[in-house]
Amino acid sequence: MDIGDIFSLVLFSVWLMLPAYLPNNVAVLVGGGRPIDGGHEWAGRRILGDGKTWRGTLVGTVVGILAATVLNAANHDISSLLGVTFPMFPLLVFVSLPLGAMLGDIAASFIKRRTGRERGASFPVVDQLDFVIGALVLTFLVSPVWFLSTFSIAVLVVIIVITPVLHRATNIIGYLLGVKQEPY
Ligand code: CTP
Ligand code: MG
Repeated sequence: MDIGDIFSLVLFSVWLMLPAYLPNNVAVLVGGGRPIDGGHEWAGRRILGDGKTWRGTLVGTVVGILAATVLNAANHDISSLLGVTFPMFPLLVFVSLPLGAMLGDIAASFIKRRTGRERGASFPVVDQLDFVIGALVLTFLVSPVWFLSTFSIAVLVVIIVITPVLHRATNIIGYLLGVKQEPY
């Protein structure tokens, strides 16, 4: 595989994951208001915490759906421009990528609270990959045939490698801009 193939593979993977990457960042920007757990505790700790809100989850998911819509509309033009054949998202996947990403992040907060980690505490590896696992699992469940034909082993490897890098980079930018409380 030459360097051009690797570049194409990375572009393909980023395209595929954009509807799952955007929601968490959008949630950081718009989050606030009523927490999903309604402030309730379980065994002396918040179920999820104030960091998981209805507004962040809803707006994040909607922006991810819009991203998939825009990518599908631009697919033909950008594919021919860059010489990379990008995937078209099926309708159910418009929802499964962003919603799965949000649910993965919410599941991680649940685990963080159960293991005594306060809101905002870092949880290495889980923080970087929770939303990827959520997006991939929900997409596999709603569209297994599309999933298996689109997410090759090579694409999955690229996603696992580039996601923590992109995640870290965007969080540092968010922290520097003052919209995120921690740089992770
Ligand atoms: N956010 C939100 N709703 C979500 C996810 C995130 O409103 N479903 C917003 C919250 O304002 C949150 C911020 O984005 O504080 C940063 O998200 P994240 O780092 O995932 O949450 P933390 O505050 O670090 O909380 P936790 O420890 O539970 O992950
Ligand atoms: Mg956090």
